[in-house]
Amino acid sequence: MLVLGIESSCDDTAAAVVKDGNEVLSTVVASQDSLHARWGGIVPELASRRHIEVIIPVVEEALERAGVGVDEIDAYGATRGPGLVGSILIGLTFAKAVSYARGKPFVGVNHIEAHQLAAFLREKGEEKETPAFPFVSLVVSGGHTALFLVEGFTRFTVLGQTRDDAAGEAFDKVAKLLGLGYPGGVEIDRLSREGDPRRVNFTRPYLERGSLEFSFSGLKTAVLNHVRGLDTAADHGLSPAAVRDVAASFQEAVVDVLIEKAMRAVASTGVGSLVLAGGVACNSRLRERLGDAAPKGGIKLFIPPAHFCTDNGATVAACAYHSLKKGFSDGLSTDAIASWKE
Ligand code: KG4
Ligand code: ZN
Repeated sequence: MLVLGIESSCDDTAAAVVKDGNEVLSTVVASQDSLHARWGGIVPELASRRHIEVIIPVVEEALERAGVGVDEIDAYGATRGPGLVGSILIGLTFAKAVSYARGKPFVGVNHIEAHQLAAFLREKGEEKETPAFPFVSLVVSGGHTALFLVEGFTRFTVLGQTRDDAAGEAFDKVAKLLGLGYPGGVEIDRLSREGDPRRVNFTRPYLERGSLEFSFSGLKTAVLNHVRGLDTAADHGLSPAAVRDVAASFQEAVVDVLIEKAMRAVASTGVGSLVLAGGVACNSRLRERLGDAAPKGGIKLFIPPAHFCTDNGATVAACAYHSLKKGFSDGLSTDAIASWKE
C-alpha cells in the first residue's frame, strides 16, 4: 500500500511516499529556517503563507522522486495536531482535498505519535532492525518533550511530559541569548564540541523523586542570569570561549536530565528498548551519552537517522498506514488541533 504523508505542523512543509508503512520511496522537506531567522523564532502568519506557496511543488517532488503517479497513491495522511493551527490547516486541507478528489481514504495524524514511528522507517532496499513492542520512547523536539510507553503502532501512553518549555525550545532560546543563529539547537551542538561542559554547573531540573516530567524554563533562566553576570563588565558580549563553555554546560545539563528520565521510564515500565525521536534526537552529545548509558543498563537503543528525527512526511505516512490497517480513517470534517490532549 502506498501512502502519501504530509506534514506542516510548524515551519517545515514536508511530503513523503511510503510503501507498507516502512519503506520510504521519497521524502521532501522545504525548510523555512531562513524565512524566520531574522525574527529569531517562528512567525506563525509567515509560516502559514509559505506553506501555501510550497505545498503543491513539495508534493509533486515527493511523487516524482518516488517514481509514482498520483493515481497510484492508495491513501493520504496529514498531521492534524498538535502544532500551529494556521500551518496545520494547509497540509491537512490539501490532503483532504486530494483524497476526496481521488476517492481514496484519508487519516489525520498526531504529530508526536508520528515522530515515534521514525525508528521503523527504512530506505528502499535497506535491511534494519526495528524495535519490538513494548518500548519506551523519548520525544524531544522544538514543541514537545515527553516520554511514552508504546505498546503497538497505534498504542501510545504518555508517561511524563514537560511542564513548560520543550527541550528544543530551550536550546533555541539559549542560542538566541548567546547571540547564535536560529534555529539554535544545531549551533549549540556544534559549539559545545569545543566548550567545557563542566565550566558552569547549572542545576539539573530533575523535579520530584521518581518524576518522569520535565521542566526546562528554569534552566533557561539560569543561563540568562549567568550570561548577564558575565556580561556586566565588558558590555560588549561574551568572548567566543565563554559562549562555547556556556553552550556546552547548558547542553550537558539538558542531556543529563533527558538520560536520567529516560532510564527511569525504562526501569519503571520494565521494557527492554528505548527509542529516541524528534529534532533534538539529532544532538550529537545526547546520541553519544545515550549510546553509552543504554547498553550499560541492558537497554537496546534505537536512534533513527537525523532526517527521520526532524519533521518529515514519512513518519506521518507510517502513522496513517497503521491506522488504516486497523480499519480506521477520518472524514472530511476532521479539523486541526492546536494542543492534542487525550
Ligand atoms: O522535531 P523538530 O524538527 O520540530 C518540532 O516538532 O519541533 O525539532 C526541531 C527542534 C528545534 O528546536 C531545533 O533547535 C532542535 O530540534 N534541534 C537540535 C539539534 N537539531 C535540531 N537541538 C539540539 N541539537 C541538535 N543537533
Ligand atoms: Zn516535530
